This record gives sequence, structure tokens and C-alpha cells, in this order.
Amino acid sequence: MGNKQEKFQKLLSKISEIINTNNKRIYKLLSICNLLHDSVDYYDWVGFYLLSEDKKGLNLELYTGEPTEHLNIPVGKGICGQVAESGKTLIIQDVTKEDNYLSCSINVKSEIVVPIFKNKEIIAELDIDSHAYSPFTEKDEIFLEKVCRIVARTF
Ligand code: SME
Repeated sequence: MGNKQEKFQKLLSKISEIINTNNKRIYKLLSICNLLHDSVDYYDWVGFYLLSEDKKGLNLELYTGEPTEHLNIPVGKGICGQVAESGKTLIIQDVTKEDNYLSCSINVKSEIVVPIFKNKEIIAELDIDSHAYSPFTEKDEIFLEKVCRIVARTF
């Protein structure tokens, strides 16, 4: 297998293929969750939250990984809620050091949340939890922001 960058490049091609199919959006999103979860060993939980119509909360659309109790998250709460407010990718390399954090499982050690935009407005988020401390690098951030730009085409 090649390096991380090559791997991410191949995944971006596969994700574009998934988005370009005629399947319903929900199947596309689930395929992308599964692909990311199965391809990157430290992506232990992968899910998409959608911003509610009143823009006050995030609703879990679907995910791959352990079940979570956080199906609805108010804007401002937790890592996801902070990203809904700021519109900026947030990486928490050690969740025990973050006060505004909603725990899904004691196994989760770190998290990255990336906003998805349509017409410059945030409409959804990609959330990835890891069972490792500090696994996310700038390469993950760049890669996942590209993933989110591709995913935005299905909204
Ligand atoms: N940890 C998130 C909640 C969602 S779970 O990771 C699935 C947060 O603090 O927003």
C-alpha cells in the first residue's frame, strides 16, 4: 500500500463515484461512512449530522460504529455544536481535555468534526471519533474537507 496521501487520493475518487450514482442520498452517505470507517484504521466512528431547519440543532442522519445517545445536539453544545456555530473544522486530539464535549463512549479519545456547506451556509457535518489519542494530522483535515466538498453535491 502507498502512503497516506495516495490512499486519501484513491478514497476521494471512490467517494466521487459514490456521489455520482443515482442512489438515494441516504445510501450514498452510508456508503461513505462505511468506506471511511473500513479504510482508515483510526476512524472508529464515522457519521453525518444534518442541521435542523430552524438551525438550532444537529440531527444524526446515519453513522458507522458504536451506537450513540447523541442523536440530537443543540448548536453550541459539544464539538459538533461548536462547529455548527463557527463553521470551522475542529480537531480535539484528547477529548478528556475538552470541557465542551459530549461523550459517546469511554473508548473515544479524539475527534474531528468538519462542516459541510451549501451556498456558503453550513448544512451538515462529518464527525469522526477515534480510539487513539492525537491520530489526526493536517492531511486528515485537508482530506476530510475535500470529502465534505464532494458530499455537499448531494444536498
Ligand atoms: N462527541 C460529539 C458528540 C457526537 S459523538 O461523537 C457521536 C460532540 O462532542 O459533539
